[in-house]
Amino acid sequence: MKSNRITKLFNIKYPIIQGGMVWVSGYKLASAVSNAGGLGLIGSGSMYPEMFREHVQKCKKATDKPFGVNIPMIYPNIEELISIVIEEKVKIVFTSAGNPKLYTAKLKEHGITVVHVVSSLKFALKAQEAGVDAVVAEGFEAGGHNGREESTTFTLIPTVKQKITIPLIAAGGIATGRGMLAVMVLGADGVQVGSRFAASIESSAHQNFKERVLETKEGDTMLTLKEIAPVRMIKNEFFEELVRFSKDHTVSELKEFLGKRRLKKGIFEGETLEGMMEIGQIASVIDQIESSQEIIEDMIQEYQEAVKSTLFE
Ligand SMILES: Cc1cc2nc3c(=O)[nH]c(=O)nc-3n(C[C@H](O)[C@H](O)[C@H](O)COP(=O)(O)O)c2cc1C
Repeated sequence: MKSNRITKLFNIKYPIIQGGMVWVSGYKLASAVSNAGGLGLIGSGSMYPEMFREHVQKCKKATDKPFGVNIPMIYPNIEELISIVIEEKVKIVFTSAGNPKLYTAKLKEHGITVVHVVSSLKFALKAQEAGVDAVVAEGFEAGGHNGREESTTFTLIPTVKQKITIPLIAAGGIATGRGMLAVMVLGADGVQVGSRFAASIESSAHQNFKERVLETKEGDTMLTLKEIAPVRMIKNEFFEELVRFSKDHTVSELKEFLGKRRLKKGIFEGETLEGMMEIGQIASVIDQIESSQEIIEDMIQEYQEAVKSTLFE
């Protein structure tokens, strides 16, 4: 594959980024993806600061290739996480779920490459204005938190591409080489993949979670919790309970009902009925638990075959 703006920005072989994921992407997943030629990201969202530092240190030992971290700005301890990033000389930071103006300048002063995740053109423009090096534009199909606009990846990428000049990474619904080619034809310079890596061997999610992902069919996930922060999850018992509860309770009661442990329960502890199970729509095509290296090799091979067979005369 030829190098492009994204492979050059991160100094990686393939323009495939493994999205930072709470309870999923520790140093094992991030280093495996980086060793396979993509860019692995440690997901700090589920880690206390000292645990986060430990994962960064272990990742440095597990790979000599570039890796990064994801910092969602909705969680507490953000100041501490940013200090650890600087102290540990992490070179790449993906921020998400917050205002890119808050930390971009500070991180860039320390020579860090900064990328911000957005779900709309409006926020992509704000991120570009804040001075980030690239944006991830994430469509409505994606697992985890997402925008209220419900823009699909197929619409979001050309919309953002029209207006920004910095490199563009597409996310949401991409799990195959053909999907990767499709978004690159639409104008993306690279892809961020979440769901397929969440079900990989090196993912720290519970085996029950991974197996439930393989069973997920078309229509089994939904973007919900728009009152608080929209998030896509599997429609399990917990989801049904949540829908019933939200009908006749206030937002603060809903927040209390959710608690902090629901996500840990679903993803990390494997309580597939009572826990929150974040995953993207594309789970419907994921049918194996594979290593990160197999995922990347498979995506690249399918991408290359698709380039040869699909291009039109
Ligand atoms: C289980 C899970 C947890 C996630 N956690 C985070 C997170 O902590 N921070 C973040 O920016 N995105 C998070 N995401 C989004 C991913 O990083 C990625 O952008 C998204 O999964 C891409 O869409 P896909 O699931 O269709 O591949 C999460 C996604 C999943 C499936």
